Amino acid sequence: MNQKSPVVVTEIGAVRQLVRDVRARGKTIGLVPTMGALHEGHMSLVCRAASETDYSIVTIFVNPTQFGPSEDFSRYPRTFDSDLALLARERVDAVFVPSTDQMYPNDFSTLVQPPRVAEPWEGRCRPGHFQGVATIVLKLLNVIPADVAFFGQKDFQQVRVVQDMVRDLNLPIRIEVCPTVRDADGLAMSSRNRYLNATERRQSLALVQSLRRAGELATQGYRDAAELRREMLAVLERAGITRIDYVALVHRETLANVEQVTNETVALVAAFVGGTRLIDNCSLGL
Ligand code: PAJ
Repeated sequence: MNQKSPVVVTEIGAVRQLVRDVRARGKTIGLVPTMGALHEGHMSLVCRAASETDYSIVTIFVNPTQFGPSEDFSRYPRTFDSDLALLARERVDAVFVPSTDQMYPNDFSTLVQPPRVAEPWEGRCRPGHFQGVATIVLKLLNVIPADVAFFGQKDFQQVRVVQDMVRDLNLPIRIEVCPTVRDADGLAMSSRNRYLNATERRQSLALVQSLRRAGELATQGYRDAAELRREMLAVLERAGITRIDYVALVHRETLANVEQVTNETVALVAAFVGGTRLIDNCSLGL
């Protein structure tokens, strides 16, 4: 296999120069923002970027402003060497790994007010989270003005927040959404899965099982969202998952609760398995 190590850039000025050079050669640029601890979910985005654009740039930055004070910022996995080895496997051209001081110098004080779709669900459970996400995504897009940026369906609400920010602020970029990549048993891949012990790993399957149950019922013609929601909660509770942040059936554009399930409905779930908070979602589009 032809492996070519990507160029690693740590300075904002250097990555801007790189982007200018690539543009001068008439090439299109694809951007994949990540927080590292890469897995096959991230790699599916990387693969899309490499195949759909001429020059692909992956960013690795554990963004402090999107973590709450009692969240896992300090212990978030940082696995740069193995990340780089994974990226070398695909045709990634550059990796941008800025320091926290560069992205947030001491006198930094501007934050993006995220769009309305940021309010419910994750927004309510993680106050300030989407303000941090919107701020860092806008900053990364300003530093690396790519043609296309790739995001995962796994973080469904995050995608909606980014899409609406791009629309509202007229950002000159196309957003591509890539399907959720799962382990063989169905668990959605996540950097946080590595926090799970063997018992919790088994328990965590209840999330995808609850989504599948909703999918089955929708396929069988059940339309009452409250009934599907009760069934999803029952699946989680049977698995011993009691700390549930939300289970919801929402419209895929507005993220508002629905009463009747339609092709536009998405099922969302967020729950703690042990001390680890996991999220997952699935479209009930038939
Ligand atoms: P992170 O959690 O590292 O995820 C980076 C990208 O990979 C996101 O677009 C996410 O949706 C996608 N992703 C994660 N797991 C996936 C899976 N199993 N299948 C498909 N895609 C998956 O999301 C973030 O980082 C940050 O919030 C970021 C956007 C980088 C801003 O800091």
